[in-house]
Amino acid sequence: MSLCPKPTMAEIDLEALAYNYRQLRQFVPSSVKFLAVVKADAYGHGAVPISKRLEELGVDLLGVATVKEGVEVRENEVHRPILVMSGIYREEVEEVLRYRLTPVVYRLEIAEALSVEAGKMGKRAPIHIKVDTGMGRLGLLCEEVPAFLNKLRRFENIEIEGVASHLSTADEEDPSFAEEQLKRFSWTIGELKKMGITPPLCHIANSAALFSLPVAHLNLVRPGIMLYGSYPSPSFKEKISLRPVMSWKSWIADIKKVPKGFPISYGRTFFTRRPSLIAAIPVGYGDGYSRFFSNRGEVLIRGRRAPVVGRVCMDWTMVDVTDIPGVGVGGEVVLMGRQLDQEITPEEMGERIGTIPYEILCSVGKRVPRIYKG
Ligand SMILES: Cc1ncc(COP(=O)(O)O)c(C=O)c1O
Repeated sequence: MSLCPKPTMAEIDLEALAYNYRQLRQFVPSSVKFLAVVKADAYGHGAVPISKRLEELGVDLLGVATVKEGVEVRENEVHRPILVMSGIYREEVEEVLRYRLTPVVYRLEIAEALSVEAGKMGKRAPIHIKVDTGMGRLGLLCEEVPAFLNKLRRFENIEIEGVASHLSTADEEDPSFAEEQLKRFSWTIGELKKMGITPPLCHIANSAALFSLPVAHLNLVRPGIMLYGSYPSPSFKEKISLRPVMSWKSWIADIKKVPKGFPISYGRTFFTRRPSLIAAIPVGYGDGYSRFFSNRGEVLIRGRRAPVVGRVCMDWTMVDVTDIPGVGVGGEVVLMGRQLDQEITPEEMGERIGTIPYEILCSVGKRVPRIYKG
């Protein structure tokens, strides 16, 4: 068998990232700050290069999910404030302060531990209070916030820099529940004001709300998916044009001519219906190309669509290239992205296997090298 000269790789277009950032920035008044969400390795795009580029572009803050993610970004010379949006554990307090990370907080013992540790270091620890206005995930219920803040007053080395919440339906056509969440959030901010607390940053808007619910901008927006050129839900595609940042490519490692009725891959779930040319592509679920693409996915070769045949293996995927003239070993295969006038988007891939573009992007595995352009 001939071996493919290059590995399967993901090309990351930093110019497309810049374009998307500028597109989104246009929708937000310049007085509103911009936090770029780079959690989950920047939705699979590589948190460090993406954060560096976003910093150059002028984002005000970066958002990660975990302390480990924040440390990775900070250790690579990124200077902007980094918000740890999932909160932190007691054991991480010292690291949080050392790496100048800003956690969201919704548990008293974490606030206390931060205050004690910050005191030892002669610092004050900035925090954002996390409020659950209806997401049903993390945070204090709105009515719990005043009592929580009263207790927080004891911790003298804490500084309430922000108050945050998260919308559960901002991508849906009907804005009524997002508006209800916003109402609850505004009520909470009002209660804080009555207590003499005015956090400089109040934020609730993800990509969908940034775009379609301007009242939710408050003084900081917090988009993720649209920076990477994908859409929170299909209806957004008609309203704003973004450029996909990631293209996922491989090469044909081998082609074989097989007779009609030949079985392909594990479990013999596909038999050729005619004499066929079957190409073996060195990508599989070990690279994040989901096994659900078995007999369901498509890839681009020479600007045409080739169907995935048989089961996706850990390291290999087979495609039927019988109808593609001029196909040969070493030819480029696009799993996601554009080739000539054809394009496979993360949205299309998600629809094929019953998931969302977020999961498609985040699934591209560590084994796939990221190559940065621009
Ligand atoms: C807390 C929080 N804020 C903001 C975002 C960004 O959302 P989106 O990628 O839909 O813009 C996320 C993403 O899941 C999140 O969990």
